Amino acid sequence: MRRHNKNHMCALERRETQGDPMSAPTETTAAMTAATPPKTEPSGRVAVSVINMKGGVGKTTIATMLGRQLARSHKVLAIDLDPQANMSQALMGEAGYRAFMDDESPSVVEVFKGYQPPGSAASPAPLDPATVARTVRRVGGELRLIPSRFDFSDNLCEATRTDDQALARFIADGFDDIDIVLIDCAPTESVLTRAAYHTSRYVLVPVRPEFFATIGFPLLHRSLEGFRNQNPGHKLDVLGIVINNAGYDGGNDGGPEKERAMGEIEREAAAHDWRIFSHQISYSRGFPKMMRGDYSWPGNARTSFYPFGKQFRRALSEEGYLL
Ligand SMILES: Nc1ncnc2c1ncn2[C@@H]1O[C@H](COP(=O)(O)OP(=O)(O)OP(=O)(O)O)[C@@H](O)[C@H]1O
Ligand SMILES: [Mg+2]
Repeated sequence: MRRHNKNHMCALERRETQGDPMSAPTETTAAMTAATPPKTEPSGRVAVSVINMKGGVGKTTIATMLGRQLARSHKVLAIDLDPQANMSQALMGEAGYRAFMDDESPSVVEVFKGYQPPGSAASPAPLDPATVARTVRRVGGELRLIPSRFDFSDNLCEATRTDDQALARFIADGFDDIDIVLIDCAPTESVLTRAAYHTSRYVLVPVRPEFFATIGFPLLHRSLEGFRNQNPGHKLDVLGIVINNAGYDGGNDGGPEKERAMGEIEREAAAHDWRIFSHQISYSRGFPKMMRGDYSWPGNARTSFYPFGKQFRRALSEEGYLL
């Protein structure tokens, strides 16, 4: 079964490399560090959860695109913590995801269980990080993925008590070569949100400038405060808010609706002292196309995402990561 997976991974790598969606030249690390000296000493890998308690704001799209962009220069571990498994489908492709499900390959479900159950192994076996985190892309750096499964939520419901630190322990024990961990979160608060927090140093918050844009902010603020109070030794900060889908289809950049939403976002962000990234990600039909593996016409998706990817990387470099 492993050999089958390996062959399949090679096919994935070839496919992704051919239609590289993030092929714009990357800024050199030297140039970036010269421009913005880090506040702290370089401190190895960093983990960022992409989160918003509001659904459909672009969490999965942004986590996936960031993973692809950063993998050009760094070793990236993407973790799909959403039972919808959209990030896994995007990064593995439809056929790859189907094969992964058919093979009953290890996923984030087994990470929470803490072992590989009998089935593909003859008896319960320790989880091998190299098997759980499959390489989906190798161009310059590398992109690995711990995939999610549709039956993830069933598995969590069946467990009498899900260990919300299991993921953090699994990441802490291996993956020494990884530079950045990117976690795609589900929109509802659950044990998975706490698992994401335990594994993360920062959260990145995508927002769409629309009616009720900031409805998830107070919830997120309370949830972060609650986590910090219960885990005083754990530093967890909001890296920033990214405005997604900003220029609407039709080219009027959102008009008064967007203006109103932006005022609300700016007020709420200031109240919590959260930074707003200055580059806004435009609306583009290229995003859903690229998410389902069609790179034939990315539209302005690539050009509008790339500058945000650079700002994200610079923000982390200023904190002493990704140097
Ligand atoms: N900038 C954009 N331009 C056009 N479409 C976009 C853009 N960003 C996201 N989308 C589309 O919007 C939909 C929702 O995006 P996505 O799945 O990334 O959101 P999400 O926050 O992860 O959703 P959920 O809360 O369900 O996990 C998808 O169809 C995606 O392709
Ligand atoms: Mg999602």
